Amino acid sequence: MRIILIGPPGAGKGTQCQRLIDLLKVPHLSTGEMLRAAVKAGTPEGLQAALAMNEGKLVPDPLIVGMVTRRLEARDCRDGCLLDGFPRTLPQAEILDDLLERRAMSVDGVIELAVPRDELIRRMLARKRDDDDPAIFARRIASFEEQTAPLLEYYDRQGKLACIDGLGTADEIFERVKVAVTRFERATKGR
Ligand code: AP5
Ligand code: MG
Repeated sequence: MRIILIGPPGAGKGTQCQRLIDLLKVPHLSTGEMLRAAVKAGTPEGLQAALAMNEGKLVPDPLIVGMVTRRLEARDCRDGCLLDGFPRTLPQAEILDDLLERRAMSVDGVIELAVPRDELIRRMLARKRDDDDPAIFARRIASFEEQTAPLLEYYDRQGKLACIDGLGTADEIFERVKVAVTRFERATKGR
């Protein structure tokens, strides 16, 4: 299964992916984690990414596409993966579709985790990652609304979107995620 998780910052994408890894036995590709590792290692990509990340902006499409392409071509992703934080713009989504199509693969389903802004802010204040400063966090929410939210319609038109209420305990939300995954499995068999 190849599943994308979409949601605003703090929606619980990473939290649900940790649970999905055990269920689906596929690797978890978090672009945020890849970028934070590159920043920590001080690679040229990391230095470029840090400029955008520290302001709560998205890193340039070519940089992230290069990173994800290399990762998707790895052997462990042959039978599927969880995409957390990618794609985040329409060009990224189109590039991903092209890339998979050339390998006779496709996205099986897209999970939207819907969480109201006040709850996102509560979670962010309880966590404190480097980019969880309130002003940067507000910018990350705005980036999501402006650049990433349009992807929901893109995948809905393809009949691949499952919108999930992201409020409740992580376990309660995972029950909803599993229902969506079952639906994706049925749809994939029918394709
Ligand atoms: P990224 O690391 O992806 O950050 P994000 O999208 O802002 O999301 P978070 O990781 O903050 O939240 P999450 O949804 O994973 O929630 P989590 O499970 O951690 O990206 C960082 C930056 O990298 C971006 O701003 C951008 O600059 C750049 N970037 C990344 N990908 C890119 C791309 N494709 N293109 C361009 N730029 C890109 O949960 C959050 C907190 O809430 C945790 O503390 C958790 O324990 C808690 N929590 C989780 N679930 C619950 C629950 N049900 N109830 C209560 N608390 C909960
Ligand atoms: Mg995350």
